[in-house]
Amino acid sequence: MDPVNVAVIYYSATGTVHALAQAAAEGAEKAGAHVRLRKVAETAPPEAISANEAWSQHVRDTAELAQPSHDDLEWADAVLFGTPTRFGNPASQLRAFIDGTGPLWFAGKLADKVYSAFTASNTPHGGQESTLLALANTFYHWGGIIVPPGYTDPVQFKSGNPYGTSHVAGGGKPGDVALEAARYQARRVADTAAALKAGRAA
Ligand SMILES: Cc1cc2nc3c(=O)[nH]c(=O)nc-3n(C[C@H](O)[C@H](O)[C@H](O)COP(=O)(O)O)c2cc1C
Repeated sequence: MDPVNVAVIYYSATGTVHALAQAAAEGAEKAGAHVRLRKVAETAPPEAISANEAWSQHVRDTAELAQPSHDDLEWADAVLFGTPTRFGNPASQLRAFIDGTGPLWFAGKLADKVYSAFTASNTPHGGQESTLLALANTFYHWGGIIVPPGYTDPVQFKSGNPYGTSHVAGGGKPGDVALEAARYQARRVADTAAALKAGRAA
């Protein structure tokens, strides 16, 4: 059986979700998947970015990273989406990419894949769950198979978010637990996609 294809598609302004996305990519790779790590296009005006040094720095640091395309979605057996919370919702940069997928959806090309999501917020009750659940609305419309981490691994009892990996950015960069949770979530996603692929091929 060929390895499964996993796309990690995310937005990050100041690097927090980027760190989670890298950990997710590592987790999927370790599970034997082919992985594409993709950062969606920045849509904020340059003056907003240049007013924030951390944001400017992260834009510079990730300038070489590939942006996602519709081909990445078609290619993928499973997709992990990452986004910071914006007033309890996914960032508009990620939504802009998702909202451009109408033709793929209409052709049935987003159905039957595995989907999962991760996020960050500044405060513990700042909307991590609402952001992940808002993304899941789209997965339902696509006919996706939503694979949350739940409490299916010991790391989940430390990281504590069954909806998807999340990190409180106000407390600093993602540490070992959050990064391990992202790796675990991606492994679970890759393993589930592999089981589906094997079952469909049987
Ligand atoms: C417009 C805007 C809205 C935000 N809304 C929230 C929010 O509702 N709750 C919260 O805790 N943090 C909020 N934040 C903080 C971001 O979620 C936080 O900076 C982000 O998770 C850091 O991730 P990043 O480093 O990947 O950009 C907001 C930030 C911006 C710029």
